[in-house]
Amino acid sequence: NGTWSSAAKNTNEITRVFMPQNYDFSMFFGKFSFRHHPTFLPKGNKTLVMCEKCSPSINFSINKLFSCMSLLLNLQDYEREAASKLDANALEYYVGGADDEITIARNREAFSEISLLPRVLRGVSKRDLSASLLTESFAMPIGIAPTAMQRLAHDDGELATARAAASMGVPMILSTTSTVAVEEVACVPGLSLWFQVYVYKDRLATKELAQRAVKAGCKALVLTVDAPYLGKREREARMGFHLPPNLRLPNYERLGSTHVAGSEGESGLARHFIQNIDPALTWDDVTWLKEISGLPVIVKGILRADDALLAKQYGADGIIVSNHGGRQL
Ligand code: LAC
Repeated sequence: NGTWSSAAKNTNEITRVFMPQNYDFSMFFGKFSFRHHPTFLPKGNKTLVMCEKCSPSINFSINKLFSCMSLLLNLQDYEREAASKLDANALEYYVGGADDEITIARNREAFSEISLLPRVLRGVSKRDLSASLLTESFAMPIGIAPTAMQRLAHDDGELATARAAASMGVPMILSTTSTVAVEEVACVPGLSLWFQVYVYKDRLATKELAQRAVKAGCKALVLTVDAPYLGKREREARMGFHLPPNLRLPNYERLGSTHVAGSEGESGLARHFIQNIDPALTWDDVTWLKEISGLPVIVKGILRADDALLAKQYGADGIIVSNHGGRQL
C-alpha cells in the first residue's frame, strides 16, 4: 500500500525509507507504525526522512527513535531491533528467502488467516499448556526450530537460545550448521536438545556427526529433507554471503569444512552445500539414520500428505510440516 520514497539528494546518511500511503506523522512517532524494509534501515545516527506527500522533510536521530521503542513486545519489534544492530551480511542471511520470496509472504498470510473462536465462561484461572512429545513433557506445545549460524547475531549464539529454551521448558533443535558445537550446547542445564541433521556426501562423516549428537545427549534427530541444494537466495548472492573468519561451523569438523567463504555474486553457503550436502538422499536414508543413531528420527520439510505417509512407512517417528521458512522454494 505504499510508495518508495527517496530521501533528500544531498545527504549520504540514508537512502530510502518505506512510507505507507496514509502516512500520519504522530502515528509515525507514537507507534512507529510505518514498515521498513530491513535492507534500507539506516545504520548511522542522523536520518533524513522525507515524506513525498507532506514535505518538508524531517530530521531526527534514528537512535532516539529506537530508544522510544526499546520495549520489545512482538516479533516486528524484534525484527526492527535486529535490523538496527546486525551487519548487512548477517541481516540479509536471516531475513532472506528463496527467489521472489513469495513463500515467505504466503507464510505470513497463512498465519494471519487463522481465526480463533473462543468458548467463554469456562473458568480459566488455572491453565495448563503442557504437552508431551516423544517421551518428554514440555511446558507448552512450542519448540525452537533449527536456525543456522546464530553467532552471526551475538557472541553467545546458539548457547543463548539454548538457555532461553531451557528456562521456558521447551525443546530446542540445534542446526548442523550451528556456530557452537553440539557438545557445548548440550551442556546447558535443563535443556532438552534435539539435533537437526544434514546428510553429507561423506556418509562416514554423517554417521560420526549423528553419533556425536547421541553422545552429547540429544533426544532426537531431525532430518531436513527439503534442502538437497540451497534455495536460490538473491540477497545472499548480492552480499556474497560468508561466515566471518572468526566464526566456524564446529559440527563440520570431520569434513574439514568449518568455514563459509563468500565471493562476489555468490552465496558462500550455497557453495558450501554443493560441496558437502548429499542431494542423492532417499527415503531409505530415514531408516538408515534411525539404525545408526538409535534415536527417534523426525523428518522435517514435509508438505504433502503422500510424503507424510511415506515418512511413516520408512519408520519416521514424526514429521515437521515446514517449507523451511520460505528459504528453499
Ligand atoms: C538455511 C539452512 C542452513 O536455511 O538451513 O540457511
